[in-house]
Amino acid sequence: MKNLIIFTTKYGSVEKSANLLQEKMNGETKIVNLKKETVPNIDSFDNIILGGSVYMGRTQKELMKFARVNLQKLLEKRVGLFLNCAENTEKKYEQCKNCFPAELYDKAIVKGFFGDEITWEKCSFFHKLIIKKIKKSKESYSNIDMEEIAKFAEQMNS
Ligand SMILES: Cc1cc2nc3c(=O)[nH]c(=O)nc-3n(C[C@H](O)[C@H](O)[C@H](O)COP(=O)(O)O)c2cc1C
Repeated sequence: MKNLIIFTTKYGSVEKSANLLQEKMNGETKIVNLKKETVPNIDSFDNIILGGSVYMGRTQKELMKFARVNLQKLLEKRVGLFLNCAENTEKKYEQCKNCFPAELYDKAIVKGFFGDEITWEKCSFFHKLIIKKIKKSKESYSNIDMEEIAKFAEQMNS
């Protein structure tokens, strides 16, 4: 199996998750940071995984555009979708639906929610204001869910 993980990130937690996922995938797995690198021709891959992070209910516009532009090709592949996000109630599925085209969301063989992470020093002034208001704290933290990543890989590998 040849796997391709395409991700977007603002402060790096999705990149960390993508690297952890790569370690768990069987076969050759290429990782592409969509904002920095060119995506290879997706025709030559069996599994395509798209991952991003959520800000104000939406993921990065580059990821949403990639999914929209390549929708027909993606629908012919085994696709997995994942998000790094703070939401961990059932609302996470609604949020995920707002991040990807509906057909892709329905067709995806697995949807993963890999937790959230904040590195305070990396955050923009505006994001710091929001975090202080919501969390009442300036602490960095990491809630990356390794079990969820392992489960996601298992389903993609099967
Ligand atoms: C300003 C701000 C807004 C956020 N909005 C949401 C949100 O709407 N829903 C959610 O589930 N998580 C939200 N999060 C959590 C992020 O998705 C989470 O921190 C994620 O790990 C960031 O990943 P990144 O470093 O790869 O960009 C928000 C975080 C920040 C700092």
